Amino acid sequence: MFYGILLSLQKKDMNPFTLRYSPKYFCDRENEIKYLNDNLVNGLNTLVHSPRRLGKSALILHLFHKLEAEKSFETIYIDLFATQNLQDLTKQFGEALLKKYHGRNLLNGVKKLFKGLHASLSFSMDGSPQLDLGITGTQVNLSLNRLFDYLGSRNKKIVVAFDEFQELASYPEKAEAVLRTFIQRMDNVFFIFSGSSDHILQNMFYSAKQPFFQSSESIAIQKISNPEYAAFIKHCFESFNTKITDDAVAHILDFTETHTYYTQVICNQAFYRSGKTVELDKAFEITGNYIENRKIDYLGIYNLLPENQKNVITAIAKEGSIKKPSAVDFLIKHKLPSSSSTLQALNALVGKEMVYRANEGYKVYDVFFMRFLERYF
Ligand SMILES: Nc1ncnc2c1ncn2[C@@H]1O[C@H](COP(=O)(O)OP(=O)(O)OP(=O)(O)O)[C@@H](O)[C@H]1O
Ligand SMILES: [Mg+2]
Repeated sequence: MFYGILLSLQKKDMNPFTLRYSPKYFCDRENEIKYLNDNLVNGLNTLVHSPRRLGKSALILHLFHKLEAEKSFETIYIDLFATQNLQDLTKQFGEALLKKYHGRNLLNGVKKLFKGLHASLSFSMDGSPQLDLGITGTQVNLSLNRLFDYLGSRNKKIVVAFDEFQELASYPEKAEAVLRTFIQRMDNVFFIFSGSSDHILQNMFYSAKQPFFQSSESIAIQKISNPEYAAFIKHCFESFNTKITDDAVAHILDFTETHTYYTQVICNQAFYRSGKTVELDKAFEITGNYIENRKIDYLGIYNLLPENQKNVITAIAKEGSIKKPSAVDFLIKHKLPSSSSTLQALNALVGKEMVYRANEGYKVYDVFFMRFLERYF
């Protein structure tokens, strides 16, 4: 009895549909993990790309969790999202190595990694260590050299993931060329590059003029399959002694188009806004209320668009996806102007990352925004 109470998870304890990576509540991705693992074992670097919020970062963290558990590779994850130049990259890289290899004595770590260079340590409000690098120009290259040398000297198999790798393209330096030189030199360190599949990343890896041209294997992350996601959702509810019916799950996955982030958000709501069982009417109430609550935000975004773009994005939302946006029947059905001004508006929306080109045609990027447009216009 006593153990029973300890072991059975209570709904109030936590929500399994976290919006942060959690190894315990991670859905599927077995093929992708195997592919990445095989590449590492065979000494190949990999580019991981997909539209936003499908689960690239979580996939890499899950792979790293597995590799660390197996002790087959040491893993280093570097998020380049907020970086603007090679110095920022070096700082992120340095901080990652400090935490990983010198967590017990950070000051000593700084001395070891950046000996003779202007580097010191400070602590942010939440107590996390921050590296202060007073380096510019050639010293940046020297510091990077030290960091890669350090990894080389470990004589262990190491995998480094650079997430949001497309940021490099906007650095003022020839960062890709610099990094490529270091990367090619390593024989115990393998790399995963990750980012959203926009034209910047495409250009970095598929243009013959660029340093990273054909330097890696590549995988485009797709949506998790509907049956896998449905089974995962049911399992999560059951782990907490609650239940969700098949048709409620089907409605949620239909509403979110099985896009990972949106599914997690709605399931998170369904989990804590319901009692013992979630049935279809409750699922409808949850998705409806969610869009209702976000209405003001989305209206603000919508109102910023020029009239032409408002009409085009609403038409795409109502269609779900559109293969030929200049086709006469689409233009007539949605009372859109000439095909040339519709295409112009479409290109502007693609440029703003509000619409993207998926396999099935042009789609609204943000699934909740799509549902908002569908509902209110
Ligand atoms: N397999 C999974 N199981 C459960 N939750 C997941 C899974 N993959 C991703 N998530 C969750 O979905 C959300 C989006 O995932 P993630 O941030 O990894 O996407 P991303 O492709 O890296 O997005 P971005 O392009 O914006 O960086 C996160 O909240 C993450 O925790
Ligand atoms: Mg990410």
